[in-house]
Amino acid sequence: MYLSRLFLPLVFTVHVSSEALGSVLTASSASLSTLSSLLAGVPDVVQLLSTARNITILAPSNNAFTKLLARNPRAAELMQNPRLLTGVLQYHVLAGRVPASEFSTTPKFMPTMLTAPFANVTGGQRVELARVNETSMIFSGYKQSAMVTTADVEFDGGLIHIIDTVLTVPATPGSTAVNTGLTSLAGALQRVQLLDGLNLLTDATIFAPSNDAFEAIGSALNTLSLNDLSSILGYHVLATPGQVRFSTDLLVLDNPRNLTSIQGQNITIRRENGQLFVNSARVLIADILTTNGVVHVIDNVLNPLNASATPIPSATTQAPAFSGVSSVIDSPFTSGIVPTATFIPATVPLSNSAPGAGAPLASKAPYMAIMVAAVMALVASL
Ligand SMILES: *[C@@H]1O[C@H](CO)[C@@H](O)[C@H](O)[C@H]1NC(C)=O
Ligand SMILES: *[C@@H]1O[C@H](CO)[C@@H](O)[C@H](O)[C@H]1NC(C)=O
Ligand SMILES: *[C@@H]1O[C@H](CO)[C@@H](O)[C@H](O)[C@H]1NC(C)=O
Ligand SMILES: *[C@@H]1O[C@H](CO)[C@@H](O)[C@H](O)[C@H]1NC(C)=O
Ligand SMILES: *[C@@H]1O[C@H](CO)[C@@H](O)[C@H](O)[C@H]1NC(C)=O
Ligand SMILES: *[C@@H]1O[C@H](CO)[C@@H](O)[C@H](O)[C@H]1NC(C)=O
Repeated sequence: MYLSRLFLPLVFTVHVSSEALGSVLTASSASLSTLSSLLAGVPDVVQLLSTARNITILAPSNNAFTKLLARNPRAAELMQNPRLLTGVLQYHVLAGRVPASEFSTTPKFMPTMLTAPFANVTGGQRVELARVNETSMIFSGYKQSAMVTTADVEFDGGLIHIIDTVLTVPATPGSTAVNTGLTSLAGALQRVQLLDGLNLLTDATIFAPSNDAFEAIGSALNTLSLNDLSSILGYHVLATPGQVRFSTDLLVLDNPRNLTSIQGQNITIRRENGQLFVNSARVLIADILTTNGVVHVIDNVLNPLNASATPIPSATTQAPAFSGVSSVIDSPFTSGIVPTATFIPATVPLSNSAPGAGAPLASKAPYMAIMVAAVMALVASL
């Protein structure tokens, strides 16, 4: 019955705020007909969307789906799988009403309807909403960007923003590392058999040294025991229930501030000249979303035996945190690490995330609980 509602001809004018989702989609069929036909394959999602209130739907345009198919010819086949399609569509629905006027230079990490077991982030998988280059933008998995092309289309459950790119559902930290060029980290984690464990954490924050960072301490890596390597890698990971540390959270911490890694020792977060540092390492790319939290790329490998290392904020590169090392040419640990795709994370200046209007998501908690229960019931029925 919800399906037929979707395809009801439009009777009333478009800008009635109490209009049902189906009517709005029909009225916008010039840009949303592909989304409508995909929704027809997952009636449970339609039912959920039609009865939800205060949601924001990020609706990929027909052109967005065309671009997806050009990039990944298998996408059409994958979209035939109702379970996968449901997950992808859930990731396009925000738990909350966010008009375009609320996209700001301080990013918001909004919870979506994609939840466990398809994402292990407390409160639901996030998308990043921000105003960049005077444009309302959304950053999804692998920090892929999408642009809002038509904002603030009202329907009775909330708002629809039409976007120019299908969002990428965040991948595991392992796949994220391998497919964004962080192959030394992926190889090192595999060497000490930490990759699977890392992928299964909940609410993880991972500081990911670039391949250049591993090359810079190459001479030290040859002689490390597996225990020492495990200790170093664990020192790069935070996992506190309910506390994924996005850049906005790190920038508003007391300065400097200690956070305890899963290895047991503290890392120290500092904000200097609008840049973010972990011990003496600088954050190069912040906020790459993963299945279970977030990855921040850093320019040095952290050394738990040098926890007091501090940065020289004015310097463009920081000295390695390991004394007496020399660099190597080939990226360490990368043998056998083969990317399955290539993603280039968007670059957004960190000054974009200056502290200030932090989104008080806590007020949405009871609502989220209802939403999560609804989604779990839906998933169980698939
Ligand atoms: C939707 O949001 C409005 C204003 O923020 C609030 O008054 C209302 O109770 C919310 N409705 C639901 C169902 O959450
Ligand atoms: C989330 O965690 C559960 C339990 O560890 C696991 O079975 C599931 O595969 C994880 N989900 C993802 C998307 O990694
Ligand atoms: C913003 O504009 C600059 C300059 O044109 C460009 O290099 C950058 O990629 C844009 N940022 C995003 C996130 O699109
Ligand atoms: C970690 O930092 C906290 C807060 O500053 C401090 O109380 C604790 O003693 C530190 N732990 C270690 C192992 O240094
Ligand atoms: C952070 O922890 C280190 C030890 O890891 C300690 O020396 C330092 O005093 C702590 N700083 C703060 C601000 O708690
Ligand atoms: C600690 O790190 C600094 C760079 O931040 C480096 O100069 C120093 O040699 C390191 N010390 C040890 C003991 O590794």
